[in-house]
Amino acid sequence: MKKHDEERPPLPEQPDSSGVSRRDFLKISSISVAVPMVVGPTVVNVAGEEVPVYGPGPVPVTLNVNGKLLKAQLEPRVTLLDALRDQFELTGAKRVCDRAECGACTVLLDGKPVYACSVLAVDAQNRKIETIESLTGPGNTLHPIQQAFIQNDAQQCGFCTPGFVVASKALLDKYPKPTPEQIHHELAGNYCRCGTYAGIRAALGGKKEA
Ligand code: FES
Ligand code: FES
Repeated sequence: MKKHDEERPPLPEQPDSSGVSRRDFLKISSISVAVPMVVGPTVVNVAGEEVPVYGPGPVPVTLNVNGKLLKAQLEPRVTLLDALRDQFELTGAKRVCDRAECGACTVLLDGKPVYACSVLAVDAQNRKIETIESLTGPGNTLHPIQQAFIQNDAQQCGFCTPGFVVASKALLDKYPKPTPEQIHHELAGNYCRCGTYAGIRAALGGKKEA
């Protein structure tokens, strides 16, 4: 092993999002390389757990997105974010860091916020996926969270905003009247380069900005 590989710190876990931690993602990736060329999913044992292995070519994938079943032929390496944006034209979730750091790609998986850039589309099958597009009401009316963001100047360039709104929905589903500490904790996975945090806190806390 090269010296710089040895000095690299271990990757953190992302335990409460997709059910597939970043470490498991890497384990699965390495197993996929080791398995002979197969067509269709098979199952291998990884650290005592049964893990489906797909591919390596395109496989049929069905995703339950915003209450609709969307189908495509996707290579197993395709992330949920790429599937949403490039296959199904749902571009609300943004691709910014593409490495589970910024939260711009946040969607809900069975009600929990996850980084869509770090979940494989094949692993999101049989789960309930909700994107920012699901929040828009009839006649393109805004969700109350979106209205609160506007009223409190909680966005500037807006690139992070869909991720923050989706994460905020998960927060408010969990804590209808969140404390400042709960807001801080539940949104800790989202970053805003424009520094609109005060507006976001005001939008979620119901306080009027001066
Ligand atoms: S684009 Fe997914 S976390 Fe940044
Ligand atoms: S509003 Fe620009 S990154 Fe958040």
